[in-house]
Amino acid sequence: MGGIFGAVSRSGGNVVPLVVTGLERLKYRGTDNSGIAVAREGRLEVYKDTGPIDVVARKLGLDKLQGSVALGHTRYATHGRPTAENAHPHVDCGRRLAVVGDGSISNYEELKDKVLLNGHRLTSRSDFEVVAHVLEEAFREGRAPEALPGVLSEKLQGFFAVAFLDASTGSIYAATTGPQLFLGASRELFLVSTSKYAMHGFAERYREVRRGEVVRVSSEGVEVYTGAGVGGLGELQPLHLDPSLVEKNGYKHHMLREIYEVPESLMRTLSSVQKKYLQLAARLVTGADNVYIIANGTSLHAGMVASYYFSELVGVNPVVVSAAEFPLYYLENIGPGSLVLAISQSGETGDVLSSLYEAKLRGATILGITNYVGSRLARLSNLYLPIAAGPELAVPATKTFTSTLLLLYLVALRASRQEGRIDEDTLNSKLAAVAEAARQLGEWLPKVDSEASKAANEVSECRGGYVVSRGLTYPLALEGALKLKEASYFHAEGVEAGEFKHGPFVLVEKGFGVVFVVPVEKVSAEATYPLVGMALEAGAKVVAVGFAGDQSLEALSEKGAAVVAAPPAERHLAPIVLAVPLQLLAYRLGERLSRPIDSPRYLTKAVTQ
Ligand code: AGP
Repeated sequence: MGGIFGAVSRSGGNVVPLVVTGLERLKYRGTDNSGIAVAREGRLEVYKDTGPIDVVARKLGLDKLQGSVALGHTRYATHGRPTAENAHPHVDCGRRLAVVGDGSISNYEELKDKVLLNGHRLTSRSDFEVVAHVLEEAFREGRAPEALPGVLSEKLQGFFAVAFLDASTGSIYAATTGPQLFLGASRELFLVSTSKYAMHGFAERYREVRRGEVVRVSSEGVEVYTGAGVGGLGELQPLHLDPSLVEKNGYKHHMLREIYEVPESLMRTLSSVQKKYLQLAARLVTGADNVYIIANGTSLHAGMVASYYFSELVGVNPVVVSAAEFPLYYLENIGPGSLVLAISQSGETGDVLSSLYEAKLRGATILGITNYVGSRLARLSNLYLPIAAGPELAVPATKTFTSTLLLLYLVALRASRQEGRIDEDTLNSKLAAVAEAARQLGEWLPKVDSEASKAANEVSECRGGYVVSRGLTYPLALEGALKLKEASYFHAEGVEAGEFKHGPFVLVEKGFGVVFVVPVEKVSAEATYPLVGMALEAGAKVVAVGFAGDQSLEALSEKGAAVVAAPPAERHLAPIVLAVPLQLLAYRLGERLSRPIDSPRYLTKAVTQ
């Protein structure tokens, strides 16, 4: 993930300080690397390093840098570790173009081979470096700028926004295949950025850059290239923003922003993981004598869902165990044929790392799943897959959970294909269903949020509660309860629906809350509905979470349950899609109860010891 901020002065003024300010406002998008390119007298100057923009600016003396055209970037590493070489901007061989990007180029591996064969030099492991060379060829062949929309759509695949500075003309170009990208204007400036909030105070008007457009800004004006020809700036809206929300991109809390980023994060995960590595991961799962999934907290819940995926789609039954428990009784069975699949968003969780050291000593192969490619988990792993959700700043994990689930589902699907359990068409239709689910979720989010707010009001007076489910969504009951505790200090317990009458039911009465996540297996759902009736009869406040259009969900609403409905999706995607209503319920309850949502007491983002 990355934050892009570019500026062109219409009068030749210095824009470097405002690009630095723009990058500071984009820090929530990552601070592993920062960089800036300026064009001066037709020549490109690039300054970049590791660390946040303020640190890099001090180190490289950017306060002395001048330029009337500048393009900056702040980076969260997903392709290539957070080293100075992998920092954006990336330049072409002729040092005419400086490229920055957000998202991933999913055909990076193929493109890399092609540009190397064509004689280009690559100096990094960043996927956006190949873009500089693909564009260089287009400029050299005289295909730019008119043919750029076609060049981008023909050559580059993935979910990304890209901007580049052409030093020879002092122009900045920008385009997107999905991530938000904005064009801003004032009497003095033209701006491009991944956030309209970052433009606060600099732009008076703005508009979103649309898919298929390539926008070019220079001191002379704006040109918009589409496959059909060249147009002008287009219609702009006034930019009126609440300045207090600038650092969180318009949201009151990071947790809320991160929940609203879930659909985009799913697309980032989908386009980021390279097929070659997914195939290797799948081989590790199917080729192992035994598979252990180790993790903590939310990542452990993701691992539990993965065991359902692996069991059904691959015929592999992994042992899922807390990384804290793993060294106590499981190490004896670990050997050279074992695969330890370690999941950790931060990649720095102490129990995960110490378990891995032990497992490695015994010859196990380590498959790491992490959101931080610079982490020790990534370094310890024989193979790691990046979650690619972008930085997560709120302590309660949200978008990294849904993206981890997706990544594990992708591994299971790929393994299923390798084993001949599903054919290529099925695989492709399941991948298409993921993209469609992400799109629908994005559209539905405001509605889901408003229903979650109402449900939060319903349970806000309760002294505690359960989150109940069964089957594929049972781990969501545990995760929903964890989110309620963290974000709202609401005491909740996750219960497997089949266990409800074996004890937990005893506490259900007036003043108690029960959240039912409607199971996706018909048989589990049928066994769960009577429990909802029992909870309502006992006087509990009941919330039902499920797919819209499910008639039983409507029946539960008639019986008095507060319903939070998510867009219907394929059964396997239920843990991903239904996690969001639970996250919003926890967030809205925390907001109502005035909890310190992003930083709950005693908790840290990574439990390193
Ligand atoms: C999630 O909301 C929690 N903050 C916590 O349980 C977390 O998932 C756990 O500490 C594991 O973290 P990791 O994924 O970084 O290893």
